[in-house]
Amino acid sequence: MAIPQHTIDQILDRTDLVELIGQRVKLKKTGRTYSGCCPFHQEKSPSFHVYRDKGYYHCFGCQANGNAIRFLMDIDGRNFIDVMQELSSKSGVELPKDNFEQKKLSYKRNTQKPEPKPVVNTEKSAPSHHAAISESSEQIDGLQAPSYFDDPFAQFDQSYMGFEDAPQEGNLYDLLENVAQFYEKQLPNSNKAQQYFKQRGLSAETIQFWRLGYAPEDWQHLEKAFPYDIEGLKQVGLIRSSDSGRDFDLLRERVIFPIRDHKGRVVGFGGRALNDEIKPKYINSPDSEIFHKNQLLYGLYEGRKLKAKDWLMVEGYMDVIALQQYGVYGAVATLGTASNADHLNTLFKQNSRITIAFDGDAAGQKAARRTLEIALPSLNDGRELKFFVLPKEHDPDSLIRREGLEHFQRLLEQAPLLSDFIFAHLTQQHDISTPEGKSQVMGELRELTELLPKQGSFRYLLTQSFREKLGLGRKWTPQISHDASLSFNIQTKDEDFAVALLMQHPYLYIHFEALRAFIDPQQLLAQILAIIDRVFDELPDDQELATYYVLGACNQFSHEIADIIERTDIQTLMNAPETADKHAKEYALGLKEKYLRQKLKAPISLIESRNLRQQLNELSKQINLRLLS
Ligand code: UTP
Ligand code: MN
Repeated sequence: MAIPQHTIDQILDRTDLVELIGQRVKLKKTGRTYSGCCPFHQEKSPSFHVYRDKGYYHCFGCQANGNAIRFLMDIDGRNFIDVMQELSSKSGVELPKDNFEQKKLSYKRNTQKPEPKPVVNTEKSAPSHHAAISESSEQIDGLQAPSYFDDPFAQFDQSYMGFEDAPQEGNLYDLLENVAQFYEKQLPNSNKAQQYFKQRGLSAETIQFWRLGYAPEDWQHLEKAFPYDIEGLKQVGLIRSSDSGRDFDLLRERVIFPIRDHKGRVVGFGGRALNDEIKPKYINSPDSEIFHKNQLLYGLYEGRKLKAKDWLMVEGYMDVIALQQYGVYGAVATLGTASNADHLNTLFKQNSRITIAFDGDAAGQKAARRTLEIALPSLNDGRELKFFVLPKEHDPDSLIRREGLEHFQRLLEQAPLLSDFIFAHLTQQHDISTPEGKSQVMGELRELTELLPKQGSFRYLLTQSFREKLGLGRKWTPQISHDASLSFNIQTKDEDFAVALLMQHPYLYIHFEALRAFIDPQQLLAQILAIIDRVFDELPDDQELATYYVLGACNQFSHEIADIIERTDIQTLMNAPETADKHAKEYALGLKEKYLRQKLKAPISLIESRNLRQQLNELSKQINLRLLS
């Protein structure tokens, strides 16, 4: 059974590690962590720590460490699936049921070709389709009662010949792949459809890359091409039944956009009318066992194939395609639905920094605000969201076609970060030259920051940056020692940046906390981390006050600290809250790697060395991921 990462994350999120471990180990609250005697090695004084918020445990004695899954696997020698089943039932998050799912993906194939049903209908049902049905029926029905074998679609029938004897199980994925091929092959037969794509500026390569196709006018073309697969086609909504019980195809006389899931399997289709007078302009496959609009993004598979680095959420299929043709890879669109938190989380898995495009009109502004509210709860530390507001009267497709790649990219690069976007958004609505206006902005900001995750520093950093921008509270300027002999020719180390960051934003401690397990306790950074750990719960919410509080607590090191702050040009690193957070995270990871390597060089036990190596591996993976993103 393959358990998707998001399910694992969800289960871990809902598991209280202190409670779980507390059933096996006597734990005592010590400062911000819980500690007890390590169950993985013999010891008398407790060096085993559990970090509840991080869902992580660490033994300073034997270096055993991990999350809830690791804990249960190691302590009982159980396998992954076994442990996941226990955690799943405890947390109430269900694991995927493989066998069950498999069943739902299959359908029963006809064993015989269905008799052609008369298409002309005299009943007065389905009035909106009635005229069209009668009109098209003349071509496919009537006196000649055409044999399916001289039907132009019969070529797609070939692979299904000879199945008459035994009932066959069909697979929905295979079926949709065949349908996609069918639509693709109809395109060269239709001048209108080819003309349409040409007029929209698509090249032959683009059409091929996106596997664009055409669904003919005929009301029952799929029935004819796939006579054994009617049930499957109904399951995926491509064949519908009218009230009078007659079958007809969902997509007719439309250009076709096959929609692929993240593995590249065709799971549904979008069909666009050949001119704008026809309503609806787009018709999409309905949700089915293999097509979940809330989780799919059009272009995700293709963008990954093109090794896209920067991801951009746009509105429509044509935007995604036009951008790709012009060289902007990594654009994705929802499937005719509004974007939701799942969509954003999917995109955040590609890169911790993503951009969302909005129209420049009032509707676009409204959509941006809505998206903002959906996005905030998933903005864990380190995630960056940018808002690309398009020039009025443009969508990405029209903009790039008119202005070209360079212009488009320039605008895209200038897209503001979430923090700046919110600032612009709120300050447009209030007059911030007055104290009342400022306090209204801060009030609305509080409503928004309430939506941010409780853990993490982004909430705090965003508020601080607003206070600074509105001129509330002075910007903290450290007192600098001008003793040149101290700073002469000393290279600034990562430790120094960490110290400087911590002094300016003590709340960033949460990123450095885990370092305490590895760092030499004699080091300045180690001593400062120990002090912050002690005072963390008492820190004032206000940045400036928090800084003074920590400076006060660290006053035995005030000279060293002042010197470090002078050498590290920390202010420039900290312009936006997003970047402060990112730098903190990066320094913490880099330092952790360095200390792990140092530890490995010292003489240690086999167990400890194995644990350290394992951590180093995981860490390198994390660091590489961040470098890629
Ligand atoms: P838009 O109507 O904004 O148009 O649809 P567009 O993408 O610019 O389309 P073109 O350029 O005229 O071809 C945006 C997206 O909304 C969904 C589709 O997914 C479309 O890509 N949509 C739109 C529908 O599902 N149904 C509709 O009737 C219209
Ligand atoms: Mn458009």
